[in-house]
Amino acid sequence: MANKEFDVVVIGAGPGGYIAAIRAAQLGFSVACVEKWTNPTGKMVLGGTCLNVGCIPSKALLASSEEFEKVGHHLADHGITTSDVKIDISKMLARKQGIVEKRTGGIEFLFRKNKITWLKGHGKFVGKTDAGVQIEVSPTQDGEVETVTARNVIIATGSKARHLPGMPVDNKLISDNEGALSFDTVPKKLGVIGAGVIGLELGSVWRRLGAEVTVLEAMPEFLAAADAGVAKEAAKQFKKQGLDIHVGVKVDEVKTGKNNVTIHYTDKDGKANTLEVDRLIVSVGRVPNTDNLGLEAIGLAADQRGFIPVDDHCKTSVPNVYAIGDVVRGPMLAHKAEDEGVLVAEVIAGQKPHIDYNCIPWVIYTSPEIAWVGKTEQQLKAEGREFKPGQFPFAVNGRALGMGSSDGFVKVLADAKTDEILGVHVIGLNASDLIAEAVVAMEFKAASEDIGRICHPHPSLSEVMREAALDVEKRALNK
Ligand code: FAD
Ligand code: NAI
Repeated sequence: MANKEFDVVVIGAGPGGYIAAIRAAQLGFSVACVEKWTNPTGKMVLGGTCLNVGCIPSKALLASSEEFEKVGHHLADHGITTSDVKIDISKMLARKQGIVEKRTGGIEFLFRKNKITWLKGHGKFVGKTDAGVQIEVSPTQDGEVETVTARNVIIATGSKARHLPGMPVDNKLISDNEGALSFDTVPKKLGVIGAGVIGLELGSVWRRLGAEVTVLEAMPEFLAAADAGVAKEAAKQFKKQGLDIHVGVKVDEVKTGKNNVTIHYTDKDGKANTLEVDRLIVSVGRVPNTDNLGLEAIGLAADQRGFIPVDDHCKTSVPNVYAIGDVVRGPMLAHKAEDEGVLVAEVIAGQKPHIDYNCIPWVIYTSPEIAWVGKTEQQLKAEGREFKPGQFPFAVNGRALGMGSSDGFVKVLADAKTDEILGVHVIGLNASDLIAEAVVAMEFKAASEDIGRICHPHPSLSEVMREAALDVEKRALNK
């Protein structure tokens, strides 16, 4: 087969890669994207971790389990009586899969619309010539190995779950994110190793559906990345819901039986403990996909942790080779990967894009949701930066009360002298949407007074953002 040439070849079609491919096509380049993912039905699909076994399926299950919990526990307050509430797990999983397929199919449509060539297989660097970088594509299913030439390459190979020695993941008794999104029954007792984002989100799903969930976390502090005030409130809420979280734990040994898993661990006081569960989720972070990529063939090397070193514009040390998303430094978040995809396509086009990594929001989709942007109170203290905090609870917001979800608060941290917003932290209903206002404000270097002076709709949850901003100068109106 003749060697095909493209202006841009993207390796990986997760949110980083597929967005980079679309933006590059919009800018007039000839674009190909190499992607090898096959779903459990044997179909090759686009969308990567995020669409297939990450953001999208997890949010579908969070929504289903939230509805179930609402009907079972929260409707009585509204005067609505229900009885004999049941959940059909296979239907719930089919709904989740339907949403996944709608989205992955949507990306196939976008590839066709933007005339992006999908090279279906595993991509690997095999060399470099004056014409560009040579990438060998080994088909995942039928077809022949082919080599394409790329004038520019965007590596967007993403990440996979980190596994631990002595805890073999079979996605039946011991699962990573893939298995934990597809349990065919609700475990009676579920163990989770790692109280990070996946542990809390998927632990919440199965708890709401009836599992007794115990989470074992190695770090002495709960949710150390979040603002300490938010983490404290979250720990209180999760405890009230029945999530049994143990911090400062050392997992000593994990043994699997026929239908159960036994975990021997040492608790924070040095006491030996045993936990017996039906299923165990291991959610202890993710590792970048750089193996079998042939980086050495073009003179590139991953760092000690497997990440590809890049500069602020996602340029690697090899000219015209870029890397984005989970395979490079920075938070492992879909929207960060997407923004880097757009940035690189625009850099290739000679534009001057920029990402302010301090303005990338974080969201944990528990109930209440947790979201933040910018610096936490503990980070500002460690930096010695003088700041003024403002905080306002959802408990006195009419809309939150009406919606029956008034736990949590918004906290705004502003510079003590200039009033510039340095960080915003939300724990409460729809925090994932509320945080967008704070991101816009921080991107525009707004002051807390700016949010305080802007008209917000009434009654709405967004009024809590405004009141927290006003509280920076201790002039909240409903406090
Ligand atoms: P990926 O999505 O991992 O995609 C990489 C793609 O590259 C894959 O499709 C892979 O098959 C392909 N690939 C790899 N190597 C090759 C090769 N050599 N040849 C061909 N193809 C290759 N983030 C959020 O922002 N919000 C969330 O709510 C959220 N929820 C999550 C829930 C779970 C359970 C998990 C696991 C993750 C979640 N994330 C979330 C993180 C998010 O999924 C990742 O940050 C995001 O997918 C990274 O995008 P990416 O494009 O860098 O890589
Ligand atoms: P994580 O990094 O969020 O959390 C892992 C947790 O496991 C940490 O608290 C860590 O201290 C703990 N841990 C590590 N080793 C341990 C051990 N041996 N014993 C006990 N605890 C141990 O990683 P997680 O939850 O696996 O998620 C991976 C990534 O996926 C996240 O960092 C995030 O970037 C992304 N993600 C994002 C979501 C979102 O944006 N809502 C949702 C889910 C995942």
